[in-house]
Amino acid sequence: MLRYFIAVYKSYFKGENNMKKLWLTLGSAIVIGGGLFGYSMYEKHGKIIPYFEQLSKDQVSEVADVQPELQKKAHYVGSEQCKKCHEDQFNKWHDSYHSKMIQDVHKDPSAILADFMKLPQDANFKKEDIKYTIGGKFKQRYMMRKDLNGSEDYIVGNYQWNTQLKQWQPWKTTKDWFHDAYEDNNSKVGTSKTCDGCHFTGFMSTQKRVEPSIACEACHGPASEHIQNPKEPNIYKATSFDPKRATEVCLQCHMRNRDKRLEHTSMQNLYGDVRDYPMGYEPGKPLSEYKTKAPFDHNESEEFYADGVGKKNRTQGNEFVQSMMYKHGITCVNCHDPHKLDNTAQKSRGDSTCMQCHSFGSAIGPHQKSIEQHTHHKVGSTGSSCIECHMPRTGKHLPNSPLTVRSHIFRFITPSETKKYNVPNACNNCHEDKTVDWAEEVTAKWGMKEWTQY
Ligand code: HEC
Ligand code: HEC
Ligand code: HEC
Ligand code: HEC
Ligand code: HEC
Ligand code: HEC
Ligand code: HEC
Ligand code: HEC
Repeated sequence: MLRYFIAVYKSYFKGENNMKKLWLTLGSAIVIGGGLFGYSMYEKHGKIIPYFEQLSKDQVSEVADVQPELQKKAHYVGSEQCKKCHEDQFNKWHDSYHSKMIQDVHKDPSAILADFMKLPQDANFKKEDIKYTIGGKFKQRYMMRKDLNGSEDYIVGNYQWNTQLKQWQPWKTTKDWFHDAYEDNNSKVGTSKTCDGCHFTGFMSTQKRVEPSIACEACHGPASEHIQNPKEPNIYKATSFDPKRATEVCLQCHMRNRDKRLEHTSMQNLYGDVRDYPMGYEPGKPLSEYKTKAPFDHNESEEFYADGVGKKNRTQGNEFVQSMMYKHGITCVNCHDPHKLDNTAQKSRGDSTCMQCHSFGSAIGPHQKSIEQHTHHKVGSTGSSCIECHMPRTGKHLPNSPLTVRSHIFRFITPSETKKYNVPNACNNCHEDKTVDWAEEVTAKWGMKEWTQY
C-alpha cells in the first residue's frame, strides 16, 4: 500500500505537470497538517471525550428521591432470582468479594480461615459456636447467634483473625466512635446496630437479613416488581443519574459515617441504638438524609489524619469526595466494575486504569510531555506507576497490620505533609532508608512547587 503511494508520488514528480505538483503538495500539506492538528487535539482532549456525556449530565439535587416510582412498593427477593436473566452480572458478582463478605459456616466450614488451636484462653467463643464468618481478605471476625431484646441477633467474638499476619488479635465492639452508646462488652452488643446494615442485603432498609453479603439488591434496591415485569422502569441503576448521585450507591457502605439522628439528639438519648450505617436508605433515595459523613476537623483522629487522608480501611468515600475527580463527575465505577470488582490489589489493571482518560501533555494532565518528565523515574520503574504516587498506602486494617489501604484522595501527598500531619507519603513509603528531609529536598530540586507545598 505504502509502496504504491510512493510510486505514484515519484511518477508525478518526474513528470512535467507543475500544476498537478502544486495541487498534490498543497493537498498533502492539508491532509498531513489536518492529521497532526487532529492528533494533537486528540492527545489534549481525546481520551476524555467519550466521558463528556457523563461529566456534563444535569445534576439531580442532593435531596431528590430518584428511586423509580414503580419500585417503591417492591420487596427484596434475593440474588438467586436474577441468575436466569442476568447470568453475566451474576457470575462476575459471584466470583467477587462482595458475594463472600458473610459466609454461613454450616454450609461451608472451609470459610473459617483462623487457626483455632491458637485461640487465646479468654476468648468468648469456640469454633462450634460460629454461625457466620465476616470477611477474610485482611481480617476475619466471627458472628455467634445471640438474641437480644427478643429478636434475632448476633454478637462478634472478642478475638479476630489477622489474615495478613496470621495471628489472633483482641477485638472490641466499642472501640469505634459510638463507644459511649454501648456497654463495653462484646456479648451485649448486637451486630444489628453496628454491622449488619452494610454486610447483609436488605437489612439497612428493612432490618431483616434478607441475604448474607452484598448482593444485587444492595445496589439495585428491592426487585419483586422487576422480576414480575422486567420491561417496566421498576429497578434502580445508579449510572442513570448524575455522577454524584451515582457514587452514593457505593458511599452507603464505603464511607465512615455518623448516625444522622445525632444532628438533633445526643449519644446518651440513643443509648443502645446508635447506628453505624444509614438506616432506612435504599438505592436511589438521597443518602445525605440517612447519614452524616464522618467529620475530620483538622485534628488527627482514629479514622483520619488531620489533612483528611484516611488512616483506616473503609475511608474510600470520605477521601474520594475531596478529590477533583469526584468534583468533575468521575465515579467509583469508572475504575471498578461494580460486578467484577477489578482494580483491587489482586485484580489490578495497572496504569491502564488511569490512562483510559489521562495522557501526557493533555488538558486534564499530566501536563508534562512524557512519563519520565512527570515522574522523574525511569519508564517501567515501580516509581513511575500512577497509583504508587497518587494512591500511596496510608491506612491499616488493624493497628499492627502492615500499611495496605490505598488512599483515594488522588492528589499527591507531599513529604511536607508527613512532617506536619504524620501522614505517610509515597516517596518514603518506597525509599524506606531515606529521611523525610531527603524527600523534601529531592522534590524541591525537581523544581515543582506543588511537590513541596500543601
Ligand atoms: C425474567 C427475567 C428477569 C429477571 C428474573 C430479572 N431481570 Fe433484570 N432485566 C430484565 C430485562 C429484560 C431487562 C431490560 C429491560 C429493558 O431494557 O427495558 C432488565 C434490566 C435490569 C437492569 C437495568 C435497568 C436499567 O435501568 O437499565 C437492572 C439493574 C436489573 N435488571 C437488575 C435485576 C436484578 C437485581 C434482578 C434480580 C433481583 C433481576 N434484574 C431479575 C430481565 C430480568
Ligand atoms: C456493588 C453494587 C452492585 C452490585 C452488588 C450489583 N450491581 Fe448491577 N450494577 C451496578 C451499577 C453501578 C451498574 C451500572 C453500571 C454502568 O452503568 O456501567 C449496574 C448495572 C447492572 C445492569 C445493567 C447492565 C449493565 O451491566 O450495565 C444489570 C442487568 C445488573 N447490574 C444486574 C445485577 C445483578 C443481577 C446483580 C447481582 C448478581 C448485580 N447487578 C449486582 C451496581 C451493582
Ligand atoms: C452494602 C454494602 C456495600 C456496598 C453498597 C458496596 N460495597 Fe464494596 N465492599 C463492601 C464490603 C463489606 C467489602 C469487603 C468484602 C470482603 O472483604 O469480603 C467490599 C469490598 C469492595 C472492594 C474490594 C474487593 C476485593 O476484591 O478486595 C471493592 C473494589 C469495592 N467493594 C467497590 C465497591 C463499589 C465500586 C461499590 C459501588 C458500586 C461498592 N463497593 C458498593 C460493602 C459494600
Ligand atoms: C457503613 C458500612 C459498614 C459498617 C457499619 C461495618 N462495615 Fe465492615 N466493612 C465495610 C466495608 C465497605 C468494608 C470493605 C472496605 C474496606 O475495608 O476498606 C468492610 C470491611 C470489613 C472487614 C474486613 C473484610 C476483609 O475481607 O478483610 C471486616 C472483618 C468487617 N468489615 C467487619 C465489620 C464488623 C464486625 C462491623 C460491626 C462492628 C462492621 N464491619 C461494620 C462496611 C461496613
Ligand atoms: C481513579 C480510579 C479509582 C476511583 C475513582 C476509585 N478507585 Fe478504588 N481503587 C482504585 C485502585 C487503582 C485501587 C488499588 C489497586 C491496588 O491496590 O493495586 C483501588 C482500591 C480500592 C479498594 C480496596 C481493594 C483492595 O484490594 O483492598 C476499595 C474497597 C475501593 N477501591 C473502593 C472504591 C470506592 C468505593 C470508590 C468510590 C468512592 C473508589 N474505589 C473509587 C482505583 C479507583
Ligand atoms: C474516567 C476518566 C478518568 C479516569 C479513569 C482517571 N481520571 Fe484522573 N482525572 C479525570 C478528570 C476529568 C480529572 C479532572 C481534571 C481537571 O481538574 O482538570 C482528573 C484529575 C486527576 C488528578 C488531579 C486532580 C486532583 O484531585 O489533584 C489526578 C492526580 C488524577 N486525576 C489521577 C488519576 C489516577 C492516578 C488515575 C488512575 C488510578 C485516574 N486519575 C483515572 C478523569 C479520570
Ligand atoms: C513519582 C511520583 C508520581 C508518579 C509515579 C505519577 N505522578 Fe502524577 N503527579 C505527581 C505530583 C507530585 C503531581 C503534582 C505536581 C504537579 O502538578 O506536577 C502530579 C500531578 C498529576 C496530575 C495533575 C495534573 C498535573 O499535571 O499537574 C495528574 C492528572 C497526574 N499526576 C496523573 C498521573 C498519572 C496518570 C500517572 C501514571 C502514568 C502519574 N500521575 C504518575 C507525582 C507522580
Ligand atoms: C513505588 C516505589 C517508588 C516510589 C513511590 C518512589 N520511588 Fe523513587 N525510586 C524507586 C526505584 C525502584 C528507583 C530506582 C530506579 C529508577 O530510577 O526508577 C527510584 C529512584 C529514585 C531516585 C534516584 C536514585 C536514588 O535513590 O537516589 C530518586 C532521587 C528518587 N527515586 C526519589 C523519589 C521521590 C522524591 C519520590 C516521591 C515523589 C519517589 N522517589 C517515589 C521507587 C520509588
